[in-house]
Amino acid sequence: MPVLVEQDPSLVESLLGAMPTGSHAVATTERGMAWLDQHSDEYVVALGPSVDLTSALATAEELRIKRPTVSVVLVRDQFDTDVLTKAMHAGVRDVVVAGGDEKALTSAVERAHQLFQALRGPGGARQLGRVITVFSPKGGVGKTTSSVNLALALTDRGARKVCLVDLDLAFGDVAITMQLFPTHSIEQAVGSEDSIDLSMLEGLLTRHEDSLTVLAAPAHPDVRERVTPLLISRILRALRDGFDYIVVDTSPSFDDATLTALDETDECVIVATLDVPTLKNVKVALETMDMLSIARGHRHLLLNRADELVGISVEKVESILNMPVTAQVATAVDIAAATNAGTPIVSHKPGHPASQAYAHLAASVTGEPVAVPAPTPVAQAEQPRSRGLFRRGRS
Ligand SMILES: Nc1ncnc2c1ncn2[C@@H]1O[C@H](COP(=O)(O)OP(=O)(O)OP(=O)(O)O)[C@@H](O)[C@H]1O
Ligand SMILES: [Mg+2]
Repeated sequence: MPVLVEQDPSLVESLLGAMPTGSHAVATTERGMAWLDQHSDEYVVALGPSVDLTSALATAEELRIKRPTVSVVLVRDQFDTDVLTKAMHAGVRDVVVAGGDEKALTSAVERAHQLFQALRGPGGARQLGRVITVFSPKGGVGKTTSSVNLALALTDRGARKVCLVDLDLAFGDVAITMQLFPTHSIEQAVGSEDSIDLSMLEGLLTRHEDSLTVLAAPAHPDVRERVTPLLISRILRALRDGFDYIVVDTSPSFDDATLTALDETDECVIVATLDVPTLKNVKVALETMDMLSIARGHRHLLLNRADELVGISVEKVESILNMPVTAQVATAVDIAAATNAGTPIVSHKPGHPASQAYAHLAASVTGEPVAVPAPTPVAQAEQPRSRGLFRRGRS
């Protein structure tokens, strides 16, 4: 996805707002180039006003030869014909004014995308899959349960291909949670950093249902040490070629695997529960994500075990974390029972309030209109207390 080089946080926010969902911001041109090195499918880099003209032109000059499919868009506070001439010579494709017409940057990025598609030819025009990372700094809050149900909700009843990647490398339990018995896992990809591709990965996946496949975590915790960040980022990129969505379940910490997934991610689902220690840790995690410019503007807060009478209101959570709650899932024995039976609640009871909440979450991460299944009639619902315990985020 497009990358923006800019240091000023307020500018980052406004410029990313004019770029496609999933665009990523870095602070320096060096980091921008490092990003491009890792993303062979990148088509545009926008250089914000904080990048001085000399290094902006040097970057454009370098990319003009090394990566002609990547367009450079120069964003300036103001510019004159001298800047335009120099930019043109360096190979900059567009110059736009920051804070001017927002659509100028949007259409420059669109033009870059059209050019990229034309240069890559008809086969290159395929839409790449999107990575969605499910994260919480706290253990046991429902990351795996949420990942599994979100992945199933994203399959849209078989219409989309979804891969669920278990990046809790030491203690991953996606497979066991879904009652799958994988013959292969990410372990068989260890050492294949330079050769990994979709066809190789397809041999390592375990199928759950038609449109949902799982890349399982290693069976033994010590294998974690051999799964390098480079391998993880190459796996996620290869999966983008074959799947519409790649959902990543993570361990409860900012370990290397989680950080790599967050670096690759287009959307991030943050799971929190209504207790003070979790909220404190989530707040710190969000601040860390801000510092690292991770998924800014592409975060979705899922409140799990969002039960009444625990003494913390949703409004309080939103004000502590300074972000809206996207979806709420109440504690329900149905959820654990359905998952334990190998048919997560989204498949088992599409009309259950929890399934509807996951459908809302899926709609939020895809940016698509919500298609919520009809609610289960109250007489059949096993958890009538949880009725109405979801709602859309305000963003
Ligand atoms: N809303 C819920 N209602 C009832 N049970 C739930 C709910 N959410 C999660 N659980 C149960 O809580 C337990 C922990 O959930 P889960 O494994 O998803 O958490 P996790 O954050 O992935 O944990 P870890 O940090 O260990 O990976 C599981 O037994 C799961 O079935
Ligand atoms: Mg888990």
